[in-house]
Amino acid sequence: MKGVILAGGLGTRLYPLTHATNKHLLPVFDKPMVYYPIKTLTSAGIKDILVVVGGPHAGDFIRVLQNGKEFGINHLEYAYQTSGDGGIADALKLAADFADQSPVTVILGDNCTDADISEEVKNFKEGAVIFLKEVEDPERFGIAELDPNDKQKVIGIEEKPQKPKSNLAVTGVYIYDGKVFDFINEIKPSARGQLEITDVNNIYIKEGNLRMANLNGFWSDAGTFDSLYRTSVYWARKNLGKKEKELTTFE
Ligand code: G1P
Repeated sequence: MKGVILAGGLGTRLYPLTHATNKHLLPVFDKPMVYYPIKTLTSAGIKDILVVVGGPHAGDFIRVLQNGKEFGINHLEYAYQTSGDGGIADALKLAADFADQSPVTVILGDNCTDADISEEVKNFKEGAVIFLKEVEDPERFGIAELDPNDKQKVIGIEEKPQKPKSNLAVTGVYIYDGKVFDFINEIKPSARGQLEITDVNNIYIKEGNLRMANLNGFWSDAGTFDSLYRTSVYWARKNLGKKEKELTTFE
């Protein structure tokens, strides 16, 4: 299995921090943010990785990640997204040659989790797998609607819904077969001017080829000041050996 980390975009929600460097290199406790998605992939046995970078500070990645050997990566490749905030699916498009028709595990560079995805990676055959996590603020995410008669079946995903049909967020961890690149070519930019990964996932649902898995563990994106702070606090407390219950309480 190959891995793709999407670390482009301009990180405008984190201005003025992202005037200094790329969002994915900002600190989450004691490490640059992108270390966490790298660890998720390498822990699942994925050692062949493409990082899609973008924006004015893309060169900073080379200084931080170098050739990836420090992380146990066998082969580290970079691609550059020229379109600024073109969206997740637009960034993933750049991985088509790297994937070369084989399956890819994709993770957003600001998604920090300690969940173990190795079983799903190992057992993947075809179609798409998305990882869901219950959240308290579903308006911020892609939200899954489950079949009322089959709670393991996703029947639709809405991107940042005003009236969410559940509190199950579609996290930024996905496994796709080679068809993902054909589906990206079918979609059109959304109201926010981006090629949405949610639109790609909805095509897989229509084809009857999308499975859900639960992301068991802590998960947070770190793309806003609030989530960046919470994510840092989680890892700080975890490293300091706090008990599980105290890890996710932020008062
Ligand atoms: C993106 C996706 C969304 C997903 C989220 C997870 O949102 O569009 O479906 O739930 O990542 O981090 P964005 O970061 O673009 O707001």
